[in-house]
Amino acid sequence: MSESASASTQELERAALDSLAAAESESELEEWRIEYLGRRGVLSSRLRSVGALPVEERREAGASLNRLKNRLSNAFDEAAERASGSADRRSTDDGIDITLPGRRPNLGGLHPSEMMMREILEVFNDMGFQTVEGPIVELEKYNFDMLNVPPDHPARDLQDTLWIDRESKDRVLLRTQTSPMQVRTMEKQRPPVRIVSPGLCFRHEATDATHEWQFHQIEGLAVDEGVTMSDLKGTLYEFARRIFGTQRKIRFRCDYFPFVEPGVDVSVDWDGRWVEIMGAGMVHPKVLEGVGYDSSKYTGFAFGMGPERIAMLRYNIEDIRHFFSNDLRFLSQF
Ligand code: DAH
Repeated sequence: MSESASASTQELERAALDSLAAAESESELEEWRIEYLGRRGVLSSRLRSVGALPVEERREAGASLNRLKNRLSNAFDEAAERASGSADRRSTDDGIDITLPGRRPNLGGLHPSEMMMREILEVFNDMGFQTVEGPIVELEKYNFDMLNVPPDHPARDLQDTLWIDRESKDRVLLRTQTSPMQVRTMEKQRPPVRIVSPGLCFRHEATDATHEWQFHQIEGLAVDEGVTMSDLKGTLYEFARRIFGTQRKIRFRCDYFPFVEPGVDVSVDWDGRWVEIMGAGMVHPKVLEGVGYDSSKYTGFAFGMGPERIAMLRYNIEDIRHFFSNDLRFLSQF
């Protein structure tokens, strides 16, 4: 009995290998695998019937069927590998080489202005300033009047305005600066106030390498009891250290902005040249009173900077018009 069992094992092996050799496609291979190695396949049913053999034969018969199962499953793996290799070649014959590396999809990235703004905002967020955003289409009173710039004020000439509606009582414009967010924030909130506000601004401006009619600003405002000029300087020094490095020299010089008193311009040393990066100052008492703050109790500082200007210094960009010209040769460098 054991001889005939092993003889039939050999026959089975031969038959299985012959039919494996004849299987070419992946589906034929799969059929073969199910027939011989599947849960209800030939080998499983042979193994199950081992139990019916006389006790002294079971062990040997079972072991020999298991060895056969291993050999067949190795043979199957090899055949499957060969088949997938030839499938590659077939595809290549069709003119598609699926062995080539894939093409990278163009994922895009952040705009350099956005990158710069996020970096700047993070510095101030770390110092406890909260980011708030406001409307681009703004009321005249927020953009000018409540910032101590009445209609006949000469400072309006410096900011040639793009008007949306000049006829109504509440005149509407494209904001020329992010400073209106100082007023909007204070109107809603009692001190202490510490905010930064990024966003687009627009001016009816002749463009050149350093002027665009559209640009970003980041506004900052801190108001509380006992805020002084030294808080302003300390905060802006720390900002400059984080953005330009610890060795960079900073200069504060007197300047005039209607909504601060005193006002300063802040410049950084750039290869021996002073480059202005922002305006700043102590919030004018009129601005504080205008939103109902008691200016004898509260003081504050404010600043406003142009992230494009700062990115130009940082990355040696010679013309601000690159930022909004949508040229991928420029944008993809960032
Ligand atoms: N908004 C001013 C501008 O566009 C910049 C500025 C100057 C903002 C001084 C401020 C400030 O908050 O205190 O020219």
